[in-house]
Amino acid sequence: MATTAPAQATVSMIALMSENNALAGPVESPAWRAPWLSNRAVQVTRNRPVIVGRRAFHYMNMLGADRWLFVVTRDEDLLEAGGNHHLTGYGFWFLPDIDSAVDAALRLAQARSAPEVFIAGGASVYAQALPRVSRVYRTVLHERLDNQPALDEGALAGWREVHSERRMSGSGGFPDQTYSVIERPA
Ligand SMILES: NC(=O)c1ccc[n+]([C@@H]2O[C@H](COP(=O)([O-])OP(=O)(O)OC[C@H]3O[C@@H](n4cnc5c(N)ncnc54)[C@H](OP(=O)(O)O)[C@@H]3O)[C@@H](O)[C@H]2O)c1
Repeated sequence: MATTAPAQATVSMIALMSENNALAGPVESPAWRAPWLSNRAVQVTRNRPVIVGRRAFHYMNMLGADRWLFVVTRDEDLLEAGGNHHLTGYGFWFLPDIDSAVDAALRLAQARSAPEVFIAGGASVYAQALPRVSRVYRTVLHERLDNQPALDEGALAGWREVHSERRMSGSGGFPDQTYSVIERPA
């Protein structure tokens, strides 16, 4: 009897953006420190392979305790060190380029039956990985941030919004936010 190959996991991106598409971080804007933002990212990516740039990795506090992190770097010392494999099976690994990180994440997703792998920043990794991405989990913070790396205007033109939550008022001095999920047309 013929067997069907398991479907390949979806490559998704999860990002916070300002109204003008800036992809900043907590160093550049206090808005990025809103606790519910990191809670959402932590929840959405839990038990999933996650690809990050080496700089974003250093800002994170989720160092692979309940997800698999693939950290892109050209640093030969880190590449030689390899990473850190926890007894739980989770951990983090250093990879030399975006394609090998995405390919490794997809292989792991297949082995662990994870339906999705995530590109989780920072800005340089988002830009390079976007051609392989077919779904974006986006939180827009309703503020304008100039002079920051940003996703190209029009990068998501023609993509389809499949989920959107009503704009929520910011609290505790944080700006309003809108959360949505957007998919590349087939
Ligand atoms: N808005 C968001 O949702 C979001 C999400 C995550 C992070 N951030 C923010 O983004 C900022 C970090 O972004 P960033 O652009 O400065 O750095 P990044 O993308 O996190 O990391 C850049 C580093 O990744 C490695 N790298 C990138 N492309 C590579 C390639 N093609 N091959 C091999 N290695 C590659 C290099 O590491 P080496 O230098 O080690 O070679 C490079 O210096 C922080 O401020 C963070 O808070 C924002």
